[in-house]
Amino acid sequence: MKRLVLAAIAAVVMGSAAYADTIKVGVVGPFSGPFALQGKNFKAGIDAYIATHGDKIGDDTIEIVYRDLPAADPAQSKALAQELVVKEGVQYLAGFYFTPDAMAVTPILKQANTPLVIMNAATSAIVTKSPLVVRTSFTTWQTSTPIAKVAHDAGVEKVISVVSDYGPGVDAENAFKAGFEKEGGSVVEAIRMPLSTNDFSPIMQRIKDSGAQAVFAFLPSGPTTLGFVKAYNENGLKDAGIKFFAPGDLTQESDLPALGDAALGIQTTFHYAVSHDSPENKAFVEAASKAIGNPAELSFPSVGAYDGMHVIYKMIEATGGEQDAEKAVEAVKGLSWVSPRGPVTIDPESRHITQNIYLREVTKADDGTYYNKEIQTFEKQGDPGLAAAK
Ligand code: PHB
Repeated sequence: MKRLVLAAIAAVVMGSAAYADTIKVGVVGPFSGPFALQGKNFKAGIDAYIATHGDKIGDDTIEIVYRDLPAADPAQSKALAQELVVKEGVQYLAGFYFTPDAMAVTPILKQANTPLVIMNAATSAIVTKSPLVVRTSFTTWQTSTPIAKVAHDAGVEKVISVVSDYGPGVDAENAFKAGFEKEGGSVVEAIRMPLSTNDFSPIMQRIKDSGAQAVFAFLPSGPTTLGFVKAYNENGLKDAGIKFFAPGDLTQESDLPALGDAALGIQTTFHYAVSHDSPENKAFVEAASKAIGNPAELSFPSVGAYDGMHVIYKMIEATGGEQDAEKAVEAVKGLSWVSPRGPVTIDPESRHITQNIYLREVTKADDGTYYNKEIQTFEKQGDPGLAAAK
């Protein structure tokens, strides 16, 4: 009898989500430390979404529970995710700036009955680690493939590739090489730097010595990218006529005031520019600026987070607030909408986002501010990395 009662209590507790009026979403990201501005952009995107769509989905109210993960730290990431699921009772996990942190959480999703909505981490393979992963950011394969064609079209035949030595860097290196060789160019040297590298002078010397006409680079956005672009300028590579091609992580808008003229003219390819000219983006930038306080701090993680919230709202709608991770993910496969970045779709097979990739050039506006000016669109790009891995 006692066991029956206990079982009944357990059933009520477990099934309570159907009646509960609060649905918790656990968001993990760098909210302190050197990458805090990237986490602040997650929060700005989330706040902007809730401010413009309300915090109610049907009868349910959404509540965001934040956890700070300042650096790439897979063990701590897993511990935080477990704590969010077990102690906080979150029904959704979201955020995750660095690839290793996202990877570490994929093994717990099935047992936790929790979808993972990735708002930044950009290594192709993450979505293959669990059928419960959906990604609203980008992959470095997706953003580094078009820039290879741009570089070759600019008359460049020899490139040196420099990337951070971890998932998204290795993917970026492979994507650029594949795209550039397809165009007939060659990568004369490929350097992989430890993620912790912050003195880039020796690298700049190797770039000069390589005889390459241009450098292709990927580092995760933050103090890393700011330091790298500064070093490119300060070590005389720009003056020597060595061109610079990269995915847009290297010229995120929040770095541009500190870079000033050093970044001027750099061409990058990326899924989002704060300057994107559309009514959806105008509304987004207004709401996200209000949320972040200083509009000059806005950068791409805000849009990954905003669209991630769109996906989570659709999941909650589809499940009527019940905790059913499989049903939730199923409901957003093939989902299309107009994001602040442009038209997007969650690819039903990979659960990664299909989107336009834009060629942009760092430009000085009449008022003296710097921005990424979109100059060409590569429409409806899927993830070439997943195709390459098959
Ligand atoms: C990642 O770790 O996947 C990552 C982080 C920052 C970026 C891009 C990718 O700018």
